[in-house]
Amino acid sequence: MRQIATAVSRWGLIAAALAMSPLSVGAAPNPAVPAAAAAGAASAAQDKAIAESLAEMLRDARTVISNNQDLINNPALGDKHLGGDRVLQAAVALYRKNTGVDPDAIDPNSREGRLLRAMMKAIVMVMADNQTTINEQGTGFKGFIPAVFGRLVAETFNGLAGNEAVIKVTAPPELVRNIKARPDAWERDVIKTKLLAPDWPKGQPFSADVTFDGRSAYRIAVPEYYRQSCLACHGSPKGEMDITGYPKEGQKVGDLGGVISITLFR
Ligand code: HEC
Repeated sequence: MRQIATAVSRWGLIAAALAMSPLSVGAAPNPAVPAAAAAGAASAAQDKAIAESLAEMLRDARTVISNNQDLINNPALGDKHLGGDRVLQAAVALYRKNTGVDPDAIDPNSREGRLLRAMMKAIVMVMADNQTTINEQGTGFKGFIPAVFGRLVAETFNGLAGNEAVIKVTAPPELVRNIKARPDAWERDVIKTKLLAPDWPKGQPFSADVTFDGRSAYRIAVPEYYRQSCLACHGSPKGEMDITGYPKEGQKVGDLGGVISITLFR
């Protein structure tokens, strides 16, 4: 499970960021802060809140798949009754529990509401696409695991919203399994010089304003760490095949396992 303490403090920051809308900045002008700088800070804070909201929903949906892994892997059952709506409802419940915010109450016409709904739609679409696999009777392990599901949701989200936002789950280069997850130059640099730095505060994302695909963008890298449950596949002995057919990476609990990388175009 994720560390609730981290989640709570992070969401405290997000709530503060959302409260700091351009309107409230304008309402209580601080003469020491030039208006343009204040507006820029507010928009970076809003970008951060939106990106972390998307990351939260993706993580929650992956957790739902993880919680249902035994059901999915059950060879005796045909129809698992694990469709898109059920997974989405469970993900929304987790999101609500972890953040105190009801995603359905976020204005669908706001940028966050629009992007979060694209993520929610992607979750439903991926579950719909994989019903045949999930419901196959007589097969135990079907390869439908949280990492694969998460990648498919990200790809589907990018198809729906890619002109506005791009999401990708990546990892330190030496840990990457799927070639599609390979970090780009920015991600590689952030992983190496920030997230893997010995003094980097555990769980703290790194963000920056950059140019991406020739467009001005906000990028954020949210670190994810291995837990005990991950090590069945990513643990020891290094090189031994896991159930999915990949060699284990010899990682330990608490090691940086991956990064949710989100780009919001300006
Ligand atoms: C059942 C085995 C298994 C377990 C358990 C597992 N993973 Fe993976 N993981 C995989 C496979 C297989 C992939 C490649 C998925 C794909 O094709 O996109 C992967 C991919 C990833 C990726 C994306 C980057 C890449 O290498 O392609 C990250 C990040 C990751 N896993 C982290 C974790 C974390 C963190 C946990 C525990 C919460 C975990 N994994 C649990 C098998 C597993």
